[in-house]
Amino acid sequence: MILNTEEITQRFSKHPKRYHQNAVLQKEISLRLLERLEYCKLVPETILDLGCGTGFMTNGIVNRYPDADFYSLDYSFNMLKFLSEQNSANIVCGDATCLPFPSNSFDLIVANLVLHWVNNSNELLLECQRVLSEDGLLLFSTLSNNSLLELKDAWGKIDNYPHVHRYFDFIELGNHLLKTFWRDPVLDREKIVIRYNSFSNLMQDLKNNGLTNSIMGRFKGLYTPKKLVELEELYLDYVDSSGKFPITYEIIYGHGLKKILRTV
Ligand SMILES: C[S@@+](CC[C@H](N)C(=O)[O-])C[C@H]1O[C@@H](n2cnc3c(N)ncnc32)[C@H](O)[C@@H]1O
Repeated sequence: MILNTEEITQRFSKHPKRYHQNAVLQKEISLRLLERLEYCKLVPETILDLGCGTGFMTNGIVNRYPDADFYSLDYSFNMLKFLSEQNSANIVCGDATCLPFPSNSFDLIVANLVLHWVNNSNELLLECQRVLSEDGLLLFSTLSNNSLLELKDAWGKIDNYPHVHRYFDFIELGNHLLKTFWRDPVLDREKIVIRYNSFSNLMQDLKNNGLTNSIMGRFKGLYTPKKLVELEELYLDYVDSSGKFPITYEIIYGHGLKKILRTV
């Protein structure tokens, strides 16, 4: 699966305010990610919020480490513009897989729900390695491939086009972290189910949060009302006893310290 990164950037750039107001899940996960820093002795002097979006993590981190030198990086200029109107962090427009920082620049990198938006997560992880200082910490969240399964299943009964992104396999991601040389990597996961009063609310929310299909080679035509009615009918299989339309996310939380590779 190859993602159309230009389209992803355009999509996030289009409605930063709408994202900020509607991204309830992303905000909640940023809080859960921040909670993990409670157990961490690190007092970072330099911090990077990678793929910061409108700054849910930035806001929390600035409050937690007010004396740190703080940078927020995103591909989307408009997301950064929105952030800079709310916050005094240093903003940088750039690519998470090719970071515009010298090696050993940061004691802490946080990346909330970004890893699954890049085509080569290996590159992103290696760049984090490079710009982290010795004993620097990467703290991230991403989606597992157990996410949006209801939608994937319903679409699968209609056609063979890819409609839902392929997210991370928990075990493979763990191996991936070992491969990219993290010290003491830790992963855990949790399921979050959001329930909507109607199917159209569910679809609209995915759109507001930027969680729409950006797969190269996806069906590019317009979805006819007939097709959407068909999708809704298939989705009825998932409606719970209270009549709500659920969508499941499985969130992977991870952290790891930079491993110093010593040559002898
Ligand atoms: C789901 S949003 C998460 C934003 C933010 N971390 C939050 O918690 O709300 C994903 C963000 O990643 C950014 N992004 C995607 N690919 C990127 C890349 N290659 N480099 C930098 N930012 C990227 C998008 O522009 C978007 O703002």
